[in-house]
Amino acid sequence: MKSYVILISVVAALGGLLFGFDTAVISGTINFIQPYFGLSEVGLGWTVSSLLFGCIAGVFIAGKAGDHYGRKKVLMLAALLFFISAVGSASAHSLYLFLIARILGGIAVGVASILSPMYIAELAPAKYRGTLVSLNQLAIVMGILVAFFSNYLLVGTGENNWRWMLLVMAAPAVLLFFSLFLVPESPRWLVARNRNDEALNVLIKTSGMEMAKSELNEIQETLKNQEESTFTDLLAPKIRPLLFTGIILAIFQQITGINTIMYYAPKIFANVGQSNDSALLQTILIGGTNLVFTLVAMVLIDRFGRKLLIVVGSTGMMLMLAGLSALYFTNHTSGVLVLVFILGYIAFFAASLGPALWVVAAELFPNRLRSKGMSIAIVSLWIACTIVTIVFPIMLEKLSGGITFLIFALICMANLAYVLKYVPETKGKTLEELEKEFAK
Ligand code: BGC
Repeated sequence: MKSYVILISVVAALGGLLFGFDTAVISGTINFIQPYFGLSEVGLGWTVSSLLFGCIAGVFIAGKAGDHYGRKKVLMLAALLFFISAVGSASAHSLYLFLIARILGGIAVGVASILSPMYIAELAPAKYRGTLVSLNQLAIVMGILVAFFSNYLLVGTGENNWRWMLLVMAAPAVLLFFSLFLVPESPRWLVARNRNDEALNVLIKTSGMEMAKSELNEIQETLKNQEESTFTDLLAPKIRPLLFTGIILAIFQQITGINTIMYYAPKIFANVGQSNDSALLQTILIGGTNLVFTLVAMVLIDRFGRKLLIVVGSTGMMLMLAGLSALYFTNHTSGVLVLVFILGYIAFFAASLGPALWVVAAELFPNRLRSKGMSIAIVSLWIACTIVTIVFPIMLEKLSGGITFLIFALICMANLAYVLKYVPETKGKTLEELEKEFAK
């Protein structure tokens, strides 16, 4: 039973791997696509961010199609899109085709960013749900690392190097597509479609004979007399606070600054006068820390809960950023402490907000509104992600590192206060128990 649930989660988490890979791979291609397509700085900015426009579309597709066609089929569509995007961008001879391919990849990222964690949450037994959904975050982090490594290994392959870098993604896309044939549809979705016998069969395999019947009853109970949901249902008085929590937590996950480090670490190191030739070492250290502390979160999240993890994590992130800011203010940025604070910050993020946001976003909403609610929360994440990514280099240049990191430290403090006051604890309960609790 346990290994079956783990297999399902690993397959779904391949979506997370592709999400991480696709968002990170572009960084290694920039120096080569810019001259190839004759891009100005502004043109390059648009080309890099084209993925994001796809993402936003993908998130809405996931929200609607995930309900209509099922989680599994739409994840298959995402796998196909990842494949087309990899082959298309790798073989593009015009900017136009390149952009279309990247946007299709973005749609796939948007879809996977919702459906992979949601599908795992809907199949996982309550006791292990946090750990299993966090597997998706582990896969995102691994995807980022694989992209950096494969870019590094492929950079010396001649003038077509960037094409090879982009093509790598085709392999996990094919793997995701075919491995989805091995896993069942989400029992929560099956019940919503009145396919109760099939749902029971899945529940027997994931939760065991004893639990399956009562779980089925509970799911049926939550879906009784419910019509097909719409996005406006999210504004109902009992649902609105959940929607806000999802949106605000998703925005905090981004505006506390994670991707300033993930995307700009070499720039930060150069900014403080450290040499750039250790880029690979920095990548390994940052990626390795991210990976190890995501594993730590996976061990802790069902034991201590999502909330405690975020509280401790945000406090740690805040202190690390304040330390970094102080180094800038006192002109002590040349030593090893910069690296210590940056790695410390990554470690606290990875052990808390990184995975916990995805877990909570997949748990907050009632069965009939889950994919729509989650899609609104996650679209906010993508928008916040773009804004931070665009604004950060400007802040660093115009405000100095001291003030920039101080601002991020203060945002961590605001996140801490918000979580303490508004975010409910969701560990250990079934999705239906949570639904009843939130409806009170
Ligand atoms: C975030 C991404 C981030 C990644 C880094 C994810 O949870 O949503 O924006 O790049 O973690 O590990």
